Formats: sequence, structure tokens, C-alpha cells
Amino acid sequence: MKKLVLTGAAGRLGSYLREPLSKMCDTLVSTDIADDIGTLYQGETYIKGDLASLDDMMKVCEGADMIVHFGAFVDEGPFEQLLGPNFIGAYNIWEAAHRHGARRVVYASSIHAVGMYPKNEFIGTDVPHRPDTFYGLAKCFAEDLGRMYWEKRGLESVHMRILSCAQVNNARALGSWLSYDDLIQLVTRCIETPVTGFSVIYGVSDNDRVPVDNAKASFIGYRPKDNAEEFAAQVLAETDPLDPKDPGHMCHGGPFAAVQLGNLVMADMNVVDDRKKT
Ligand SMILES: NC(=O)c1ccc[n+]([C@@H]2O[C@H](COP(=O)([O-])OP(=O)(O)OC[C@H]3O[C@@H](n4cnc5c(N)ncnc54)[C@H](O)[C@@H]3O)[C@@H](O)[C@H]2O)c1
Repeated sequence: MKKLVLTGAAGRLGSYLREPLSKMCDTLVSTDIADDIGTLYQGETYIKGDLASLDDMMKVCEGADMIVHFGAFVDEGPFEQLLGPNFIGAYNIWEAAHRHGARRVVYASSIHAVGMYPKNEFIGTDVPHRPDTFYGLAKCFAEDLGRMYWEKRGLESVHMRILSCAQVNNARALGSWLSYDDLIQLVTRCIETPVTGFSVIYGVSDNDRVPVDNAKASFIGYRPKDNAEEFAAQVLAETDPLDPKDPGHMCHGGPFAAVQLGNLVMADMNVVDDRKKT
């Protein structure tokens, strides 16, 4: 692989992907709207850019074999706040990838594309979209965009519907956890699989309580190794009885399923910022 692009490189998940991705190609072009991303790995270059600018993304994606697209506004919020980075940003990435003849986009989609399904439905990768927020709607848009660019323009994409890639400190995460090691394996497989067409796969570890079914994405060869059950005794001891009528507990989307459309939700979720430092 000559050139990979990573968007969202300054973000928490991006911080764990930069080093392994830099080892998979001659040049890793990391990009974000942040001013800088710390010390660069061997083979890595950094280009500051705005996802909402097609000119910026054309510059970033020039000569890329594949684009690993993680950049986004990561929260629920007013539609207008998500429009630039998440909706237009997705279009700009797929359009720039197409114009430059890239082979594939590997996309950080989300469980929030299907977040309104109740948790006692063991959902597969082919259930109809059921977004829980404008944030989830943007993930649905990017998935449909990816399908259309595959069917009309032959640009492959793998849409990793990540559940929750963060430290396990709540009951939902016992099912939804994706460890950083498993994230790296997942992204690696999505890049290395020879042919993917348009594909969807859930980003989740090998948890005893996993609520989603990756059977139809088995060909990608993702075999997670971590299991959130190791945290179960402590997490459950600290958890009060939960209201079964609260969509925040009953739906796949968790707190995003309960929040009013357009309201921020991440600040209440106690996500630990343990990004990898360089
Ligand atoms: N963390 C999770 O559990 C989780 C779950 C599902 C999906 N995802 C997806 O994974 C990706 C990364 O998530 P994260 O947790 O690392 O979030 P993060 O907020 O730490 O990283 C997102 C990055 O995108 C960048 N960004 C925002 N607006 C931009 C713009 N206009 N132009 C360029 N860059 C911009 C930010 O500066 C940030 O560095 C996101 O697409 C997110 O939707 C994450």
C-alpha cells in the first residue's frame, strides 16, 4: 500500500490508529482540523484541513489508495452543527476518493445509525436504518452514500458501526465495548480484505453480552479478542436498578436513544479521554 489517509487523526480513536496505519503503507497522510497532532510516526505526514471543504479534502486524498474516515463532530447536536463536518464532510471524502481513483473508504459509522432498535433484538448488519439522533442520521447518510458510490462508481467502502470504544464504566458497555486492540484489528482487516464492495460490520469486542450479529460480515475475518465481562462484577455492583421503560437503557443507542433531538449528550456519558500521546 503506497498511501493511506486517516481523517480525525487528532481524535481519541485516531490517536490509537495512527501508528498501526503508518506501518501498513509507505505514506500515512493524517488530517484533522486541529493545528497539530504531536510527534509524527515514521512515514506519517500531517495536513490540517476542514472536512466541510472539498478543496481541502481533494488535497488530502490526492494519490491515496484508501481513506480511513474517522473525522466528525462526535455528539448529538443541532442539525446545522452536524451538516458541515458529518454530512457534507462525508460527501467530500467520497467525492475526493472517487475523483482521485482511490479503491476504498473505511468508515467509522456508528450503532447510532440503528440506535432505536430495542436491545432484545439481536440485530444483524442488514437491518433497515433506525437512527436515534441527527448524529445517527449522518451515519445513515454516509452508509447510503457509500452504497451509492459502490453501485454507481465502483468505489468500495466498509462501514464499521462502532458501538462504544471507551473505557467500560457503565452497564451498557458490558455489551457494547470495543477495545482499542480490537479496533485496530477491525480497521486492519477492513483495509487488508482483498474485496469488500459495500459492506457493513459492527465494531464490538467479543463480549459475552454482545447485542449485535456480525455473521454476514464474517468474510472480513474480524475476530475480536477482548471481552468486557472482566469488568462486569465491578460495574454491576456500582449500578442501581435501571428503568426498563427508559430507551436510554432499552435501546441499542443507549443515551443517544433517550436524548431530545439536537441536544448534546456526550458530556453526561462519562467518557474517559485516554487518547494515546505521541
Ligand atoms: N468513540 C466511540 O465510541 C465511537 C462510536 C461510534 C462511532 N465513532 C466514530 O469514530 C470517529 C472518531 O471518534 P472519536 O471518539 O475518536 O471522536 P473525537 O471527537 O475524539 O475525534 C473526532 C475528530 O474529528 C475532528 N473533526 C471535527 N470536525 C472536523 C472538521 N470539520 N474537519 C476536520 N476534522 C474535524 C476533531 O477535531 C476530532 O479530532 C467518529 O467518526 C465517530 O463518530 C466513535
